[in-house]
Amino acid sequence: MDVFRIEGPVRLAGHVDINGSKNASLPIMAAALLAPGNSTLLGVPRLADISVFKELIDQLGCKVERREDGVLTIDATKIDNPVGPYDIVRKMRASVCILGPLLARCGRVEVSMPGGCAIGDRPIDLHLIGLRQLGAQIHLKNGYVIAETPQGLKGASIFLGGPYGSTVLGTANVLMAATLAKGRTIIESAACEPEITDLANCLNVMGARISGIGSPRLVIDGVNHLHPVQYRVIPDRIEAGTFMAAAAITGGEVHIGHCRLEDMMAVVDRLRIIGIAVEANGDGCTVAGAESFQPADITTQPYPGFPTDLQAQFMALLALAHGNSIVVEKVFPDRFLHVAELNRMAANLRKEGSAVIVAGVKKLVAAPVMASDLRASAALVIAGLAAEGATIVNRVYHIDRGYERIEERFNLLGAKISREEGGTV
Ligand code: EPZ
Repeated sequence: MDVFRIEGPVRLAGHVDINGSKNASLPIMAAALLAPGNSTLLGVPRLADISVFKELIDQLGCKVERREDGVLTIDATKIDNPVGPYDIVRKMRASVCILGPLLARCGRVEVSMPGGCAIGDRPIDLHLIGLRQLGAQIHLKNGYVIAETPQGLKGASIFLGGPYGSTVLGTANVLMAATLAKGRTIIESAACEPEITDLANCLNVMGARISGIGSPRLVIDGVNHLHPVQYRVIPDRIEAGTFMAAAAITGGEVHIGHCRLEDMMAVVDRLRIIGIAVEANGDGCTVAGAESFQPADITTQPYPGFPTDLQAQFMALLALAHGNSIVVEKVFPDRFLHVAELNRMAANLRKEGSAVIVAGVKKLVAAPVMASDLRASAALVIAGLAAEGATIVNRVYHIDRGYERIEERFNLLGAKISREEGGTV
């Protein structure tokens, strides 16, 4: 297993362009299954999660190819095996977003229950509630969800809110299924994340009739069929926020291109409270860190609130703030595996239920640490950029799931990260 060796402290400077969004690419790749024929997706990043999803779509009977120029083509003419097998779904739980499109396209689908992961239980009860309200007959067998719709799907008014608010992929599944249902569907308490907006915009280009896009109430008038699409996915706001936190913690100045600040108002709001300058320019922004910066309280919430996917990265930043911060996690209350690892680097973090008290310290100290999930590993890299000495981050396969060549891109900004074989298994 690869490790990262990160020499610190460094000060980042220069320009980085943000890649296409992983969390827009995955549901949009699933949407391509709704239309027989060849779809072409632009801007899909080269990530481990995308490769796993390609493997899944291929074994449905479709053909996914990555062209030399990076364009991804999906030939969904034929789907002769609408099954999402356990050995793939357990690797990448977002695979569940084939449920809606395959149910609508094939009338039957079997997908392994995803199971939990490092950031907490990952139930899909809301997905199934929504699909049942569209007329699907669903039962569980040997760890698989089996969904059938012998009479076809029928529009319905669906409340999709759960105990932690809206569900991103649950909205994606119900939205995609509703595009081919008979009649009108209303999804109340729909997720408003930019990635869902991107999915809905893509579906409308395919011939769907969706309104209320970007709002918590989506209205879908079913159509008889959708056609293949050529579509460019939006930039990855979580990758952008990760680079912003890295620029801030190192006191550097980084120009971030292909960054839609309008998707990141909650993040920019916190950076400004912390005392980090964020200036919009060109197709992105310039983020300038400061020698010493202020604490801030962060509570994660569904969009447009502060994204849970940036909670760990910003906790690493706040570990060096000049004062105490409180970080409350309201989306995945157990999403704190990075806390113990950051404390190994001399951070002073105390977990109290679904909150962490962050007592700012003067410096972080390099240490061998263990990545546990995608965003926690990004937080450890960010901490390593600022820590004194050589930090070793183990199990960097986690970070490769969601960031393309991250060490190369950080090194172009002045970081000193080397990817090495070995490390703690
Ligand atoms: C998406 O996951 C993202 N993944 C996650 O990003 C992100 O953290 C999450 O949304 C929240 O923004 C992709 O888009 C591929 P949810 P998703 O359903 O859709 C509960 C990353 O790092 N819930 O919005 O699976 C759930 O337990 C990943 O890129 C139910 O109770 O998340 C959680 O507490 C990690 N029942 C909350 O809702 C359900 O049926 C939000 O989950 C579904 C969800």
